[in-house]
Amino acid sequence: MKLFDVYPLYNITPVKAKGSRLWDKNGEEYLDLYGGHAVISVGHSHPHYVKRLEEQLEQIAFYSNAVKIPQQEELAALLGAISGYTDYQLFLSNSGAEANENALKMASFHTGRKKLIVMKGSFHGRTSLAVAATDNPSIVASMNAVDFIEFIPLNDLEALENAMNEEVAAVMIEGIQGVAGIYTPTAEYLRLVRRLCDANGAVMILDEVQSGYGRSGAFFAHQLSGVKPDIISIAKGMGNGFPVAGTLLSPKFQAKHGLLGTTFGGNYLACAAALAVLEIIREEKLVERAKILGEKLIPELKAIPGVEEVRGTGLMLGIQTPYPAAQIRKMLLSDSKIFTGSASQPNTVRLLPALNVQENELQQFVDGLKKALNKEVRA
Ligand SMILES: Cc1ncc(COP(=O)(O)O)c(C=O)c1O
Repeated sequence: MKLFDVYPLYNITPVKAKGSRLWDKNGEEYLDLYGGHAVISVGHSHPHYVKRLEEQLEQIAFYSNAVKIPQQEELAALLGAISGYTDYQLFLSNSGAEANENALKMASFHTGRKKLIVMKGSFHGRTSLAVAATDNPSIVASMNAVDFIEFIPLNDLEALENAMNEEVAAVMIEGIQGVAGIYTPTAEYLRLVRRLCDANGAVMILDEVQSGYGRSGAFFAHQLSGVKPDIISIAKGMGNGFPVAGTLLSPKFQAKHGLLGTTFGGNYLACAAALAVLEIIREEKLVERAKILGEKLIPELKAIPGVEEVRGTGLMLGIQTPYPAAQIRKMLLSDSKIFTGSASQPNTVRLLPALNVQENELQQFVDGLKKALNKEVRA
């Protein structure tokens, strides 16, 4: 059997990883500032993460949601305490798309409505409704296309006011738009979403799949604006590579047996991974660290000749230059051995490093970017 060839691949095979470093099969060392697409939150193979998973594996790795799994409650309690959402309820699943599907389903169950408002540039995943709510027609199959979703420009207050009415089940918005190229909703905009959702009986959903788990310098990016959504979806950094996701539901959502479900979601290993991540985030103060590192790095990046704009906060950054990002990223990889991320915005390089990336590693990126931009100027 052959693999279904859907991924444009680097010709690199990492065989070992530690912190923010990767090594390929030839022993070549790379700096990982992409984190496997914002997934590596606490660094590769963190000793506490490895130990917790190993210990769990020795005990019991999997059972379904037919039995009591105390680690799920432990995880919900710790996530509530660290995020500040102590009174919310947690539904565990396996991927960001699934977390969003469940968020949307709950909004529709709760309101009895089906109209959905999402943002232009959004990415919410590839399952049926999540992909329909994603602003990329090339990945939406006919079977996924629906007529009840309205895309409005991010941060356009008037467009939001015009789209909102009492038929709307939910407004869904990313804490910071990641795939689009790091675009942040303003505090004013999020406050208006909150106000209009309340006024019209709609549900406010924050997709924090990429911008959550400390990446922005707050546990959730929307917390920088002081708003409180009804539903929050999480994945990526939550398991540091172990597939685990969650939908956080405010107390107004009523659970009923059989309403949501999954075979794998919340299994012992997934909980061990997610608990290890939160323990490391708490122990190493990684949310505060992301904020401090971002505050230091952003002005340094802005000062580099050729950098037009730096968007984002904490360690979720988009660096825009006059040159195609594909070219810059290729140079960073070949000349400086640094992995970075791409974005839909063609000139934006995305940085999504582990939150415990070292300062000298970020300096290595600054030097590598200077070198790449210098090369572009001379070309
Ligand atoms: C904001 C956001 N939501 C949802 C998803 C989908 O997550 P997953 O690939 O785990 O389904 C992504 C993935 O990039 C994302 O960035």
